[in-house]
Amino acid sequence: MRLTLKATVAALLVALTAAIAGGVVAATQSSDEAALQPTRGPADRSIERKVNNLLGQMTLEEKLQQIQLLSDGQITDEDARNGVGGVFSLTDPQRINQLQHIAVEESRLGIPILFAFDTIHGFRTIFPIPLGAASSFDPDVVSDDHRIGARESAAVGLKQIYSPMVDVSHEARWGRIAEAAGEDPYLNSVLAAARVKAAQGSDYSDKRKVVTSPKHLAAYGEPEGGRDYNTTDMSEQRLRNLYLPPFKAAIDAGADTSMCSFNAINGVPGCANEHTMLEILKGEWGFDGFVESDYTAVAELRACPPVNPDEGPCGHGVAEDGPAAGALALNTGVDSEMVSTNIRDFGEELLADGRISQERIDDAVRRILRVKFRAGLFDDPYVNPDRADDAQLRPGALRQARRAVGRSTVLLKNDGILPFDPSLKTAVIGPLGDNQHDMLGPWWGRGDDDDVVSLLTGVRGQSPGATFAQGCTLSNAEPPTEDPEGCGSDAGFAEAVATAEAADQVILAVGETREMSGEAAARSNIDLPGMQEQLIEEVVSATDKPVAVVLFNGRPLALENIVDSAPAILEAWFPGVQAGHGVADVVFGEVNPGGKLPVSFPRRVGQVPIYYNHEPTGRPCDPNVKWNSRYRDIPSCDPLFEFGFGLSYTTFEVSNLRLSRDSVGPNGSLQAFVDVSNTGDRRGDEVVQLYIHDPVASISQPVRRLRGFERVRLARGETRTVTFTLDKSDFGFYDNSGEFVVEPGRIDVYAGNSSKADMSASFEVR
Ligand code: BGC
Repeated sequence: MRLTLKATVAALLVALTAAIAGGVVAATQSSDEAALQPTRGPADRSIERKVNNLLGQMTLEEKLQQIQLLSDGQITDEDARNGVGGVFSLTDPQRINQLQHIAVEESRLGIPILFAFDTIHGFRTIFPIPLGAASSFDPDVVSDDHRIGARESAAVGLKQIYSPMVDVSHEARWGRIAEAAGEDPYLNSVLAAARVKAAQGSDYSDKRKVVTSPKHLAAYGEPEGGRDYNTTDMSEQRLRNLYLPPFKAAIDAGADTSMCSFNAINGVPGCANEHTMLEILKGEWGFDGFVESDYTAVAELRACPPVNPDEGPCGHGVAEDGPAAGALALNTGVDSEMVSTNIRDFGEELLADGRISQERIDDAVRRILRVKFRAGLFDDPYVNPDRADDAQLRPGALRQARRAVGRSTVLLKNDGILPFDPSLKTAVIGPLGDNQHDMLGPWWGRGDDDDVVSLLTGVRGQSPGATFAQGCTLSNAEPPTEDPEGCGSDAGFAEAVATAEAADQVILAVGETREMSGEAAARSNIDLPGMQEQLIEEVVSATDKPVAVVLFNGRPLALENIVDSAPAILEAWFPGVQAGHGVADVVFGEVNPGGKLPVSFPRRVGQVPIYYNHEPTGRPCDPNVKWNSRYRDIPSCDPLFEFGFGLSYTTFEVSNLRLSRDSVGPNGSLQAFVDVSNTGDRRGDEVVQLYIHDPVASISQPVRRLRGFERVRLARGETRTVTFTLDKSDFGFYDNSGEFVVEPGRIDVYAGNSSKADMSASFEVR
């Protein structure tokens, strides 16, 4: 039965894609078939003709080579001559050009190579990590990041980026929470679409543009226990309501490639997942680009120990050996195999044995060629290495990166001490106070530590003569080491206290090293590593100076132990190359912080996963009542800082929520209006947030769901009205059979400046 279904879906897709490619799309189609209609215009017809023409000339061996994607460490001249499809992580424009010349001039059909790279938050001009940029609640910030990242990448000869990373996550322990936009599907969707559009433009054959690859399909952000690569088990409604929307948004924005994930969902690995790759991505969404596997993810389908250890790692145990893994991946929707070589190596034998079909091989190759034609590679395959450097680290890019830091910083607490006066004597203290390396975060592209403005340098630029004491040193070492996180001794604390004493105001820079987040960097404890809490305690209690804690980190931290003693806390994330300037702008009030948390900050790690858009329970949490959904040892049901929270140096009032109508048909829409006023004494930004809740539904609905936000800048005393439109994409939801349903009944709307928004109004869906 399963095989039949798989074969049917695969065959349907292959047949339809072939029909589309031939420009023959029947006028009467089922809705599934209709979903596969090409959305592009006549320009693509000529591309399809070229693709078919080329495909018709290719041998089986050449087709299998196109399916192969090799790393910078693997690629040889011979691979290029044999017509390999893609290469990633190679960024030297001379070598890229050399290989491209071999591919175009010496391979039989002259098909150019697609060169790819992980330009996640910048190539050379590194922007704040995506979790940080998400705090801006500003699509312009991520657009700047991806426009500049695309230009710098394209300038060295890259034409694909493995970005945006769109994995919604509730897992603060997971290191890769740093790479996407946090816990909310709507925020992730808006920012994913903005990143795709900025990197690709309206036509990614443009020399400054690249094709994007939203990843990792799917639900990679929810590994059990927060350990990277670990298994995920979830309902269909969760998959569709929480994890898939950012992928859909990225595909709708034009993303033409996507990467399947390492993890298994419900026992089915991402790169063997017919449901996500074939039925949903290529079927329901009509995606006509290609899917690349993640790094060795095809080999990892094999059982351990592997029949042939030379074929890379093993693990999932859904394929007996390399040939079985290659067949499974190809048959379930993988078009391009990264690093492992099962489809290429065993394709011929698999085809002869009838385990894969010629149609499916052609479909995969057609998708790859289609993207290469759209990318303009056949017209203009080469890069000019002499111009590659000119595109990097341009002054305008650095200005945008600095602005991004200011907009991404979140003020978590302020007892009235910030902003500091730059003419007073400032001390910078802490292990990350004069640091360049860690500021780049866990994906630093081709960013260079030397490019980075450290916090101390940035502070000295505005408060000359600022002093410095490190207090302790964090560790970049891989465990097991004696002191894996570093800051294991208080030997430098006395000097830190003395330096603070001698100044008028103190910036205390603490957090994580960049090695503590990102891939394969889960932490079971999300407190400040080492003795940094004690360092804060000592500096605050031993002096009477105002102390502002600045956090550099890649995940939500548990700050329960420092939140009362620290007079001010700024969350700066890993801010990138302009770290010091951008953070100094906020500390000294050049920039009034307006960022908001894209992820909940728990009080302690034991609360994880904790997220604002949870479902209600029959025993809603009450910390003081037994028989409720609570922790008996935490006197609160809330996180320490909730999703959407962030302060400013001014104050705002969000008021007067009203709706344009009190009822709406299932296909209708309505507007919500909210007033926002700056009630303080300086100009500032507020993020007005609109949430909804469906109180009675066929399946329990989240207590709040973000469905609109707008960051507005207001002069003091100014009031503005923000308008949001709601339609069924907002008040409908997916049920457990995967159907999108719009149910009649009341919908509650909440407006405010965090997920605790309690001003409400209601309307009826008829
Ligand atoms: C990561 C991907 C990345 C790929 C290529 C993998 O380990 O999971 O996100 O794109 O490597 O660098």
